[in-house]
Amino acid sequence: MARILITSAIPYINGIKHLGNLVGSQLPADLFARYMRARGHEVMFICATDEHGTPAELAAAKAGKPVEDYCAEMHTVQADLAKGFRLSFDHFGRSSSERNRKLTQHFAGKLAENGYIEERAERQVYSIDDGRFLPDRYIEGTCPNCGYDRARGDQCENCTKQLDPTDLINPRSAISGSTNLEVRETKHLYLRQRALKDRIAAWIDSKTDWPILTTSIAKKWLNDGDGLQDRGITRDLYWGVPVMKGDQPWPGMEGKVFYVWFDAPIEYIAATAEWADKNGLDDAAWQRWWRNDKGAEDVTYYEFMGKDNVPFHTLSFPATILGSGEPWKLVDYLKSFNYLNYDGGQFSTSQGRGVFMDQALSILPADYWRWWLLSHAPESSDSEFTWENFQASVNKDLADVLGNFVSRVTKFAVSKFGNAVPAGGDYGPQEQALIEELTGRIRDYESFMQAMEVRKAATELRAIWVAGNEYLQAAAPWSAVKTDPARAEAIIRLGLNLIRLYAILSQPFIPDAAQAMMSALGSQDHTWSADVAQALDALPAGHGFAVPENLFRKITDEERADWQTRFGGIRS
Ligand code: MF3
Ligand code: ZN
Repeated sequence: MARILITSAIPYINGIKHLGNLVGSQLPADLFARYMRARGHEVMFICATDEHGTPAELAAAKAGKPVEDYCAEMHTVQADLAKGFRLSFDHFGRSSSERNRKLTQHFAGKLAENGYIEERAERQVYSIDDGRFLPDRYIEGTCPNCGYDRARGDQCENCTKQLDPTDLINPRSAISGSTNLEVRETKHLYLRQRALKDRIAAWIDSKTDWPILTTSIAKKWLNDGDGLQDRGITRDLYWGVPVMKGDQPWPGMEGKVFYVWFDAPIEYIAATAEWADKNGLDDAAWQRWWRNDKGAEDVTYYEFMGKDNVPFHTLSFPATILGSGEPWKLVDYLKSFNYLNYDGGQFSTSQGRGVFMDQALSILPADYWRWWLLSHAPESSDSEFTWENFQASVNKDLADVLGNFVSRVTKFAVSKFGNAVPAGGDYGPQEQALIEELTGRIRDYESFMQAMEVRKAATELRAIWVAGNEYLQAAAPWSAVKTDPARAEAIIRLGLNLIRLYAILSQPFIPDAAQAMMSALGSQDHTWSADVAQALDALPAGHGFAVPENLFRKITDEERADWQTRFGGIRS
């Protein structure tokens, strides 16, 4: 049994996330967490809301609420939606927690102690009309790297380059749109990332098994142009972690807060501490996941995120960890995703374009979405959501293949042999062939899941479902029952056992359907078995079962057309 720490990039608090956000981090992380638990490993799966900085302040202002209230409300909304999608976090924390405030200040103190923090008088964009500095997202303009004209002051969404507000061409205030801006001097703290460059580069070079998407982005920002830049880690903002050197005041930094990207990844650690607090456990309980001197050296740490998050997790956060000089855990494997597009364009939170998590659940249960999103995860390239494709996948994979198998087997069984697993006959050559095929396919499925090859795992799982259907078609118990009822009983005994095996294998993708299948079969035994023959004998003759309610329904053409119009425009 291994110990596995899994974090998903923590979603910004500013509003409900769209399906592109979901498939880029939380959902595949959940798939992996569920799989690892199913394999008997000890898993800690952490997520949280990212509550500080300009995204939160801007959204709260727009909602006309104090930022504290806005964050508390939106955290509950996001937590409920996460439950709705069956995201199995061990803890869904808040980056505005006391734990994170303390830890963030702790890291800053250590970095300062070790000489990795520098005070700089810096030139910041000041908006004369708004009467304030415009850090990060308070400013928009054209990206100097790729020319995208809606780049934000902290990062270009289009090319992922990390930016400073003063880099933008034709800058304008995101509050008022004003271009009446000037550059003023203010004092800020800088994390001396350049001084850590060689250590970070060597560490990245040692990660030979990382996905190309991850290492290519990391190396690009490490080596391109001037290479790794020192990074401003404080801001002139109200909402954030107050700048302190550990528990000491930081002279000259009064009224300033840490930059949201400085405290957000620290929340991975803080959220694990929040988990311990919530469960009445002591510090040792969370430290054994994060501190190599307190038992975490045998933990393997996996991070999941969209590609725009990669620079922060391969450069900035490791710089914080390494610079602290303390034995905190660094990520072992970083799984990153491309973007999911929506019907010929981009999903966009700011423009309200696409399907958002609440809307998705209002029209169909979580499993439908989980299946489509995971089986189309944007791994090797961007992928696209279209309603036609969604309808086709759901109807074919879930309704025609898996759902139909379950309903044919259980209904036939009940009508011919009653509500118990039939005892007659033995498994013969057809069953042997199926067992062999499944054995190979399950082995492949396991390696894809282990390697976080999400699409390939989905493809293999679908093939495993298809194999059952083909077997049933060829074995034809409806014919056998007329001439050789014992043979039909053996086929159905296998079919019922196969439903149970499907439930276990499919649970990471479609947990609700898996649960419904297990309950219908009256089984609590979720053991993941490498021995297919044994698994297909798990439900003994005489074991009671029920016909589950229709697992998946088909999406009609009318529904598809209706949703297409309803979600085609801009969400208000
Ligand atoms: N909130 C960021 C986003 O949605 C992700 C933060 S990940 C963390 O892009 F590491 F900073 F926590
Ligand atoms: Zn750009």
